[in-house]
Amino acid sequence: MTSRVVVLTGASSGIGRAAAVAFARRGDRVVLAARSADDLTETALACGNDALVVPADVTIREDLEGLVGKAVERYGRIDVWVDTAAVMAYGKFEDLPPEVFDRVVTTDLLGPANVARAALRRFRTQGHGTLVLVGSLLAHVTVPYMSAYVTSKWGLRGLTRTLRQETRDAPDIHVCSLVPGSVDTPIYTSAANYAGFVGRPPPPVDSAERMAARIVRLAAKPRREASVGATNRVIELGFGLFPPLYDALVTTLIRKGGLSRQEIGPHDGNVFAARPRVDGGPGRWSRTQVGAAVGALTLAAGVSARRLLSGK
Ligand SMILES: NC(=O)c1ccc[n+]([C@@H]2O[C@H](COP(=O)([O-])OP(=O)(O)OC[C@H]3O[C@@H](n4cnc5c(N)ncnc54)[C@H](OP(=O)(O)O)[C@@H]3O)[C@@H](O)[C@H]2O)c1
Repeated sequence: MTSRVVVLTGASSGIGRAAAVAFARRGDRVVLAARSADDLTETALACGNDALVVPADVTIREDLEGLVGKAVERYGRIDVWVDTAAVMAYGKFEDLPPEVFDRVVTTDLLGPANVARAALRRFRTQGHGTLVLVGSLLAHVTVPYMSAYVTSKWGLRGLTRTLRQETRDAPDIHVCSLVPGSVDTPIYTSAANYAGFVGRPPPPVDSAERMAARIVRLAAKPRREASVGATNRVIELGFGLFPPLYDALVTTLIRKGGLSRQEIGPHDGNVFAARPRVDGGPGRWSRTQVGAAVGALTLAAGVSARRLLSGK
């Protein structure tokens, strides 16, 4: 087993934190970045080795240059770079303050572009490296009340594919994409919210550890794309094949599955600055509820499809 140097942007929470721990357990040397120094220090403790903590904001290019400098100064190279940095905002497009929309797109689309620029520049100098960018099922389908996030993830999907095409001349440089479905992480409660109700991951929900294991596998055996989520392909199929049916169902699906019943006033969450991480959240799903919800949705889809096909 060889020990690699792994930089993780977005390592203070959720999937990034779990990936950092997974790489460290494997014996890799990890360099942890995000905005919150306190949460990064906690991740470093969980990694249990001499993880290097470098607070950095992916929207600030100088921060990323500093991050590369510190990683190379300590370890001499960067073998893998995993970018999971992202923020979210709930609410109808018309209800979102424009500056919140802009900031989400800046973080979730221009952030990965900044990361890719810094990583690829370093990989070209070394002649090797693997970049793992984390997309989303929401780069393949659309949902209401998350316009800024959906816009960013669709843009990121285009950028990721372009980067793959542009690095074809370098056989030891890889650009991979992880496509999670719904994962239980703090992103739902730390999101900005103008929807009136606290968000939650819609079922079926995966763990951050499952995503982390897939990221570690991508780093060991690079692939173009890894979609992880029991219903990802079915939802993509419904979105592509039955647009009217999909659009008719998706609003109810997000209202019932993606928003809890816990009311909340408008706020900008962690969009502009890091907030202390809060694990868990309201109205997480029990197995029985997931089973009932999936059953009800299948029934609703069946009835709607029948109506649509019979023209009634
Ligand atoms: N959870 C899901 O259901 C799900 C589904 C599909 C895709 N994804 C994707 O998976 C990735 C990880 O999400 P997650 O669920 O693990 O979210 P999370 O727990 O909220 O973690 C997001 C990370 O991004 C960091 N971050 C936010 N803004 C940043 C900035 N400007 N510069 C640097 N770091 C920043 C946060 O730390 P600081 O606040 O300290 O900066 C945090 O470490 C994201 O790309 C997300 O879109 C998640």
